[in-house]
This record gives sequence, structure tokens and C-alpha cells, in this order.
Amino acid sequence: MSDPQPEPDVAELGVPVVEVEGLEVNFKGRVGFFSGLLGRKGSDAKAVDGVSITLHEGEVLALAGESGCGKTTTARAIMGLLIPDAGTIRYRGEPLARSRRGLRGYRRQVQMVFQDPTAALNPRQTIYEIVAEGLRIHGVPGGPDAKTEEQLVARALSRAGLRPPERFYLLYPHELSGGQRQRVVIAGALVVDPTVIVADEPVSNLDASVRGEILALLMKLREGSRISILIVTHDLGLAWTVADRVAVMYLGRVVEVGPAEEVLQRPKHPYTKALLNVVPEAGGTERPILQGEPPDPTRIPKGCRFHPRCPVVASGRAERLGILNRCIGEDLALEEIAPGHDVACYLTGLGEEP
Ligand SMILES: Nc1ncnc2c1ncn2[C@@H]1O[C@H](COP(=O)(O)OP(=O)(O)OP(=O)(O)O)[C@@H](O)[C@H]1O
Ligand SMILES: [Mg+2]
Repeated sequence: MSDPQPEPDVAELGVPVVEVEGLEVNFKGRVGFFSGLLGRKGSDAKAVDGVSITLHEGEVLALAGESGCGKTTTARAIMGLLIPDAGTIRYRGEPLARSRRGLRGYRRQVQMVFQDPTAALNPRQTIYEIVAEGLRIHGVPGGPDAKTEEQLVARALSRAGLRPPERFYLLYPHELSGGQRQRVVIAGALVVDPTVIVADEPVSNLDASVRGEILALLMKLREGSRISILIVTHDLGLAWTVADRVAVMYLGRVVEVGPAEEVLQRPKHPYTKALLNVVPEAGGTERPILQGEPPDPTRIPKGCRFHPRCPVVASGRAERLGILNRCIGEDLALEEIAPGHDVACYLTGLGEEP
């Protein structure tokens, strides 16, 4: 690349904790009753179509992209909640077991925080019972500095910002605010002392006023422990606030990944650039410039899968640069353009900006 930018220190990345390689998840096409009678088959959806990402120790990695691009499916595969059609997921170098029993230890290490805390909490359980559940499934850890169940529940509630913890023990979820409920979900994850938290849109169901607090809480979890966080979000502005690295997904693939400040301040993929157009932190105009149909994983376009909506193609620039045939006809993989910054776009081979 021609412009002399300071190179990010990729050596600062911790050791890989979760490595996803070539992940593919297809969903069988749904067949309606009448189309079934006519012998028609629904098309399969390639929800995830070759995703490779690595979560390092102590980092916050944001997985971002529009609705339907496969973020949740990727997160569910990482959690071992669905069996991928292809690819591998490794935890500290070991491939995930496929059996329930084999996944047990892993499920303790890797905890999930969902979008909707109200749906995630059993309305008939007290906060104490909810938070203690993980310990009842996985067992209270023993050892020389062993703690009782109650001590561990109290510590998890405090860490999640619910203090004094005893005040919450006998309450029910409906007695708490949305933000407090999400804190209970986070306490339920923390109680088993995980190394990884996968948070799927953890603030999108919350009032704007408490979103910042919950994000700050998630980020604070890293202090004093080497916890790694994968945060799934459709909002690049949120990624901007919390993430060390960002992976941008489009139609089942990662199209750009790298250090957050690089990807968000100097995006190299036209899709990342288009998404940033609506992010005020990035000087966005709040005017989406993405045109065309929303992407459909049952019909993945040939060539670069973003080409039907790509402004570089639509403006005729791709043609002028002589890459149009490849954009519309040849699939492409991520390529490293700077240390730790990978992009899948024919422009980068020319050293052109999106
Ligand atoms: N259980 C399922 N059966 C069939 N199709 C599914 C299933 N789950 C997801 N899909 C499809 O797979 C694609 C990816 O879905 P996914 O939920 O992973 O997207 P997402 O990026 O998390 O979107 P959102 O931002 O809306 O949560 C979508 O087209 C979706 O309709
Ligand atoms: Mg989702």
C-alpha cells in the first residue's frame, strides 16, 4: 500500500482462544404445502458460507453486518448449539467435540449473552436461582480457595453491577428493569468463571439510556481477567465504541477484518464504507447509500457476492479500472493488505480506495 500509515502492532494480540476455520452452515429450504404438492423444493440458505475468524485472549472482537448476514448462526455454531456443515472450531487448539458430554467442559468456558434478557430469564425463578443455575449444571469448583454456591452467586451479581447482591436474591425478573435483567443474564454467565463470552446484540433490546452502561460493564470484565468477548452487532457505531478488532460480514462471509480503528477509520471494502455512512462517530451522514435488494442467502450472486449492490460497480468505476469482469464473475477470498487487516475486494489489488 502506498500511504505510510503506522502499522498496528499485531504482536499485541493474545493467544488464540477460539479459532473458526471455513465454517459453513446451510439451512434446508422450507417447502410450503402447495409447492410441496407440486413437487417444488425450497432452496437451501447458505447462512454461513466459509467464515474464518479468531478470537484472541483478552480481546473484544465485533462481528458486524446487516440483518440476515449470518452473525447469529456463526455465534450459535461457536457455542456448539448447531452442527456446522463444514469447517472446524477449535478451543485453545482442540477441535470441539460433537457430543453433548464432550461439549460440557467447553460450555462452561464459553458463555452466551442473548439479545433479549426477558426471554432468556425464567419468570418463575428468583434471581438467586437463575444465577446459581450454571453452578448446579457445572458444579461448584473445589480447590484450596473453594467458595460456597452463595459466595459465588454474590460475587457474580456484584461483578455484573447488582449491588448489594443480597438485595436481588429473592426478586423475580419482572421486578427488575431491562438493564438490570441483562445484568442478571451476565451474572449467570460470569458465575461459572468463563474465559469467553459470546454476546449476541446484547443491548439492542434495551433502552438507549442503559446501553452504554451494559457495554461498559462488558468491557470492564476484561480488567483483572483475560476474558475474551465476541460481540455480535448490526451496529458499526457500537463496534466502534467497544471492539479491539472488527469483522464485517456480508451474506455469510467475512469481507473485511482488522483492528477496529483501521477498519472503521480507513475501511477498504466498499461494503464497510457503505455501512459507516450511517455511523455518526465516523462522520456519517445518516443516509444509507446501499442500494438494491437486501441480500438473500438462498440466492448468492456469482463473483463478489456484494457486486449487485456495490457502489464501485454501479458508478462504472469498476469497469473503468478493468476489474468489472472479475467483480461479477469470480469469487474471491480475503487477502491481507496490512498486518492483521484482511479484505476481499478486487480494488485492493490495484491499491485503490473504495
Ligand atoms: N433455523 C433456521 N432455519 C432456516 N433459516 C435460518 C435459520 N436461522 C437462520 N436462518 C437464515 O439464515 C440467515 C442468517 O441468519 P442469522 O440469524 O444468522 O443472521 P443475523 O446476521 O444474526 O441477522 P440479525 O441481525 O437479523 O440477527 C438468514 O437468512 C436467516 O433467515
Ligand atoms: Mg442475529
